[in-house]
Amino acid sequence: MRRKLVVGNWKMNGNRAANAELLAALKAAGPWAAEVAVCVPSPYLGDVALSLQGDGIGWGAQDCSAFESGAYTGEVSALMLAEFGCRYVLVGHSERRAYHAESDQLVADKAKTALAHRITPIVCVGETLAEREAGHTDAVVKRQLSAVIHTLAHCISQIVVAYEPVWAIGTGKTATPEQAQAVHALLRAQLGAATAHAGEMKILYGGSAKADNAAALFAQPDIDGGLVGGASLKAAEFAAICRAAG
Ligand code: PGA
Repeated sequence: MRRKLVVGNWKMNGNRAANAELLAALKAAGPWAAEVAVCVPSPYLGDVALSLQGDGIGWGAQDCSAFESGAYTGEVSALMLAEFGCRYVLVGHSERRAYHAESDQLVADKAKTALAHRITPIVCVGETLAEREAGHTDAVVKRQLSAVIHTLAHCISQIVVAYEPVWAIGTGKTATPEQAQAVHALLRAQLGAATAHAGEMKILYGGSAKADNAAALFAQPDIDGGLVGGASLKAAEFAAICRAAG
């Protein structure tokens, strides 16, 4: 039985006062049967680590460099994230792929660097609306995951995968549980061809996940939790999603 995981993705939102309030409310609402974590903007990692230390809620970042250190202005390394106690880092979020032209290989390299510093990469994959309408969903997500499988080789079982259809992110249009399950099953089969541990790996769903649709999504056999954007900024809503994953 895989334990469910719910991860909040704050994106580029928050400020020190609002974050403190959000985390205090979250801590008061927990604990949950599911594992819970928040991926926050890097400048807040120190605050968040202090606030959540010993509380059971994990934390992480939203991106990391594929490089160890050096002349990469503006980048944050996995080693730095590890120093702040990050358990997770998102890699290959569709906003990074779209706005920063991150390639499948770069995403795979970032996942590898994260693992080298004992941070679990949450590798995001997902198709755009045009790709879905053209019937390319399966090919797109398989291509995205394939780069990671080839780069990580025998370490592949140490990642978390997040299926996030781009057309569902921040749009209020959630994939139906059946649509999501179909892709999750495909991804697990692809992982299964690479590792004997695919059955233990977590595949999260992301894209307009909310308190009122979470339970139906999480009830699907291959959906192991959620990656939650907008709804993770509201303590009561996020707490309800965490409860739904119980
Ligand atoms: P959303 O974002 O929940 O606001 O749709 C999810 C994500 O981008 O991770």
